[in-house]
Amino acid sequence: MKFFLDTANVEEIKRIVKLGLVDGVTTNPSLIAKEGRDFKQVVQEICTIVSGPVSAEVIGTKAEDMLREAEDIATWAPNVVIKLPMTEDGLYATHALSQRGIKTNVTLIFSVAQGLMAAKAGATFISPFVGRLDDIGTDGMELIRELRTVITNYNFPTEIIVASVRNIGHVEQAAIAGGHIATIPGSLLPSLWKHPLTDIGIEKFLSDWNKMQA
Ligand code: E4P
Repeated sequence: MKFFLDTANVEEIKRIVKLGLVDGVTTNPSLIAKEGRDFKQVVQEICTIVSGPVSAEVIGTKAEDMLREAEDIATWAPNVVIKLPMTEDGLYATHALSQRGIKTNVTLIFSVAQGLMAAKAGATFISPFVGRLDDIGTDGMELIRELRTVITNYNFPTEIIVASVRNIGHVEQAAIAGGHIATIPGSLLPSLWKHPLTDIGIEKFLSDWNKMQA
């Protein structure tokens, strides 16, 4: 399973890249706004730190605006991916970009039908939001299982980015369900390698070792 970092914070990305855990990065307008920096500058900087795909989202809601933005963003770096919303205009733009060999990530996917439409339009990636589905009392992970079945049934080249990941269970279940990628907030990452029994074990080994030295 690939890990993307769900952040636009350059320092956070630099720190985690050193652990060899980062296969790509996803941003969205909220994450970019949080940094209070120029959109293009941030995306270009991230693209130099990470060699994998880096998603940058369009703001326009009309296909022509999305395509205009996408054509510009696509020139920013060779590894940039155009993130587009799951709307009719977004599908049109996704299809047009895929015809031109430009990679896309269709975001805000909340149903199997939406994922299927995006895959058929030629999306490189689809981003189903598990956390936001859980928030409204549904099982977000069920969508990942179903979408994985659809992708496999029809051999779509589209990869599933499990998005809106909020906890360690989401990452574990996404891997079990066969999500190709999980996009993970930097703050959540340590919980993936930490375990209280590991800490207790280290403490015990060291104290036993130190007793022998005494
Ligand atoms: C990533 O592509 C999504 O924009 C992100 O995972 C959304 O996460 P949130 O639901 O926690 O805002």
